This record gives sequence, C-alpha cells and structure tokens, in this order.
Amino acid sequence: MAALIDGRAMARALGERTAQAVATLKADGVDPALAVVLVGHDPASEIYVRRKIGECRKAGIGSIEKRLAADCGEQALLDLIDTLNADPAVHGILVQLPLPAGIDAARVLDRISPAKDVDGFHPVNVGRLSTGSKGLVPCTPLGIMLLLDSVIEDYRGLNIVVIGKSNIVGKPVAMLLLEREATVTVTHIETRNLPDLARAADVIVAAAGAPHLVRGYWVKPGAVVIDVGITRMVDHDGASRIVGDCATHELDHAKAVTPVPGGVGPMTIACLLSNTVTAAQRSMS
Ligand code: GUN
Repeated sequence: MAALIDGRAMARALGERTAQAVATLKADGVDPALAVVLVGHDPASEIYVRRKIGECRKAGIGSIEKRLAADCGEQALLDLIDTLNADPAVHGILVQLPLPAGIDAARVLDRISPAKDVDGFHPVNVGRLSTGSKGLVPCTPLGIMLLLDSVIEDYRGLNIVVIGKSNIVGKPVAMLLLEREATVTVTHIETRNLPDLARAADVIVAAAGAPHLVRGYWVKPGAVVIDVGITRMVDHDGASRIVGDCATHELDHAKAVTPVPGGVGPMTIACLLSNTVTAAQRSMS
C-alpha cells in the first residue's frame, strides 16, 4: 500500500508553529492581521473565505473581512486596496479569486503591496520566486513543498512532472522544485504523451483540475504523487463529494500519495496563516 501523506496532521503542526510565532509577535507589540476581500457572492469563494477567517481566529491572527458588491466597479476595489496597503495594522491582504466579470484581476493583484501580498501573486513576488530571492510564496505551492519534504530528503536530479501550468499552482511549484535542483517537466492540456512522461517521473504533482486524470498505469512503482485537484462531483443520488486529479485507488504501487480531501487543501490555509505571520515579522524590520 502507498503511504498516505496526512495533510491535516501536517497543517495542524504548522498551525501550532504559527500560533507560537503569533504569540511572540504580540509580546513584541505587533498584532498580526489579515484583510480578506470578497467581491460578489461566488458560493465556493464564500466557503473558502469563511474557512480562512475561522483559521485566522484559531491561530490568534486578526481578520478584517471586506465585502464589495459584484457590481462595485474596479475603481472601488482598487481604492479599498490602497486603503489596506496604507494601514499599518494590516499585514496581509488577500483578494479572493475569481473576481466578477468586468474587473481586471491582473490590475487588482498588481495593486496589492508586495510586502502584504500573502497570496504571492504580485509580479514582484513572482519575480522573486523565479530568481530564488526572498519574497512571499503562493500558499498551495508552499504547502506542497512541506508535504513533499516529509517523504523526500534530496530533490537533486529527481524527475518531477507537474501537470497544470496555472499561475497559482503549476508555475510556482515548478520554480520551487527547480530551486531544489529537481529536473522539472511542466505539462498541460496540450502536452503530448502525458501518460508516458508521467510514468517516467519520480514525483507527480497533479494540478490540472481534471477528476481522476492520473491513472494507475501513469505512475511508476515507488513514485510520490501529490494530488492538488478538488472537483466537487454530484453523485446520481444527489450527494456531493470532492474528487482529486488522481485515481488514488489505483495507486497502491506508489511510495506515497496525498488524499483528497485531507492532503493539499488543509496545507494551503495553514500556509496562508504562516505567510501572514512572515509578512508581520518582516514589517518590523
Ligand atoms: N481562489 C482559489 N484559490 C485561491 C487562492 O489561493 N487565493 C485567492 N486569493 N483566491 C483563490
């Protein structure tokens, strides 16, 4: 049987370290706080935002929830970001994506101060990641690295196939893996011979958003598989469940796999909190 990498337990452990860092910051007179901006009423975003704010509370991080109507207009959102950028009591700013039609997400993300960009989506932080210098790293890739670190000691020369080229997961995780001197192949929907490429990999990071894309025969014996997919599927009886990008029941021959749910997902939020603490710590210097 493949070992299951327990994202919930690892997220709990990271949460404890974050709570300790929060206590130290508070003792030094800094109350770390995250501003979460939600525009409109996208149902999935509502759930994510509620969860992020709840986890902040548990870790002792202040949360400032800012809601704008879907038709607020881009300028109102940019003005809000300017206000949050200028507020010394706000250490992290997160604008929940996707944004309603008519708002240019790139312009919005560009407006967030790189020092408060706890999502790591600002071009300055993207640039720092790609040059291996110190910035804020996107949460899901950061969480994936912590999960991988629990089963891999030395990445040098490993063949790693990333499936998906998104700005949120595929591209940044590839950069982090390159920093560790892995040989990284970034693949996507147009990639030819994807099963063959995957089968040659020591590690697969599946972030395509395609349920059960990665089948057993795609995975070589002893490989490590990180499943980033979270697709909500409705069964014929009306019950809904979350399905990953990997057919995990076919992966007994893998060395280790992340479950869905309970793998990457909990780590993403834990890393958001840890990024907020990092931003607060850096605000002191
Ligand atoms: N929507 C889906 N994933 C994310 C994320 O990581 N950050 C933000 N801000 N919005 C998202």
